[in-house]
Amino acid sequence: KAEKYQILAEKNAEALLGGGKDKIEAQHKKGKLTARERIELLLDKGSFEEIGKFVMHRARDFGMDKQHYLGDGVVTGYGTINGRLVYVFSQDFTVFGGSLSEAYAEKICKIMDLAMKNGAPVIGLNDSGGARIQEGVVSLAGYADIFYRNTLASGVIPQISAIMGPCAGGAVYSPAITDFILMTEGTSYMFVTGPNVVKTVTHEEVTSEELGGASTHSTKSGVTHFACANEIETLETIKKLLSYIPQNCEEESPVYAYEAKSDELRPHLDDIIPDNPNQPYDMREIIESVVDEGSFLEVHKNFAENIVVGFARLAGKSIGIVGNQPAVLAGVLDINASIKAARFVRFCDCFNIPLLVFEDVPGFLPGTDQEWHGIINHGAKLLYAFCEATVPRVTVITRKAYGGAYDVMNSKHIGADMNYAWPTAEIAVMGAKGAAEIIFRKEIMEAENPEAKLQEKIEEYERKFANPYRAAFRGYIDEVIMPSQTRQKLIKAFKMLENKVASLPKKKHGNIPL
Ligand code: COA
Repeated sequence: KAEKYQILAEKNAEALLGGGKDKIEAQHKKGKLTARERIELLLDKGSFEEIGKFVMHRARDFGMDKQHYLGDGVVTGYGTINGRLVYVFSQDFTVFGGSLSEAYAEKICKIMDLAMKNGAPVIGLNDSGGARIQEGVVSLAGYADIFYRNTLASGVIPQISAIMGPCAGGAVYSPAITDFILMTEGTSYMFVTGPNVVKTVTHEEVTSEELGGASTHSTKSGVTHFACANEIETLETIKKLLSYIPQNCEEESPVYAYEAKSDELRPHLDDIIPDNPNQPYDMREIIESVVDEGSFLEVHKNFAENIVVGFARLAGKSIGIVGNQPAVLAGVLDINASIKAARFVRFCDCFNIPLLVFEDVPGFLPGTDQEWHGIINHGAKLLYAFCEATVPRVTVITRKAYGGAYDVMNSKHIGADMNYAWPTAEIAVMGAKGAAEIIFRKEIMEAENPEAKLQEKIEEYERKFANPYRAAFRGYIDEVIMPSQTRQKLIKAFKMLENKVASLPKKKHGNIPL
């Protein structure tokens, strides 16, 4: 018996070594942690339970029958983060460059299936050379099995992908389907085809980092939601992100302790809107003043900065925030901003996270670039996402709410539950100058002093429309509030909406413009 126990101990020790000491050293030299070290840092201490530790590949070609490693290049299992169950797979670059075999894919599918049955998030830590080349189509089949599960799990359980090394070719499509991607600066990259193929096909000279590094994907493509300075920050961000999210689509997000105050006023907000309507201010300042202190986690921070999205807590409860950002491009809606916000709104709606919108939007961005790239379709995504969201939805119009963008930004008409406006709100078809130039064109042209006439008409239009009262008279705005009261009002409104029940017409699924 002792001998049998000894065999187990030896196998366990062997599995822990992955591809061996040299490969682990090489991994560390690249500034990367091993698959197991990452899991240790991600999960609550001692909570990890491994599944499939002794799984091996079944390939025979190209000498593979003589090369075996216990676990076969991916560490899979479950554990807890802040006491909550999660499933995790961590790709081990020390074994065949973390490449994906048939057996490896089966291990990932097994934990995905468990996660779906038990309603808990799946976290994938990616560090892989892609499909195991020696296995051919069997490896591709393995990827497809994962993609299929990613898709079926979408909207049922949260799925988070951290890219902590290479992620290339077909491998990118599993993270792409998941809800959030995080990348580590300097040591990770993602692309469909690498620099060598790019050079052959398009004759472009580009490094891996330029083509698909964390800064590229967090600023240019928007593929990654978070670019993290190092691996520790990447793993910490996953934990933080999960703190706002429920375990599955049937549950609510965790509620944090919060000390109710008799007075939730924020007097400095009364001074935040500049007197000149064209002067920018930072919407983040408003967000941070209104939500529980230090609770705002911005998503997609450096991509489409004209809109701000992220999670926060209000009186201890998780909410998703979308805010136009007047400090960048005057907060205009363009293609990237629409896509960014639409995806965020849909995530929140999937997982019962109430939505709070701060609105200061001069409209959609004009121009051939936007039109030819389909702002019509892409802008419609955000409209569609808000329209179909059934979670509690509240809007605060801080300043401009112009044109179609007024409708899009969670207006009453498309299903928002509570719509507030500050006295500085201007709810109109367009800005007063543009409006006056169009509707009084003849009168202005014929005037003795056209300049003075224009000014007079601008003022007339402003008096009539550059305020929240026309909308409030109609009930499109539920209440005009002082900026300082915003937090107080929002806490009460979300509490009032806590048990909201709303459903969409029965259908197979909608057809969002893509
Ligand atoms: N299949 C099988 N083995 C692979 C592999 C793959 N897709 N990718 C890497 N490996 C192996 C390498 O052969 C090497 O094995 P060795 O140590 O026994 O020589 C080991 O993993 C480490 O790879 P290496 O190339 O030395 O690491 P690197 O950090 O210099 O480069 C990559 C990493 C990912 C850029 C490089 O390995 C690569 O280009 N891999 C192929 C990517 C690809 O085209 N995949 C298929 C498309 S999905």
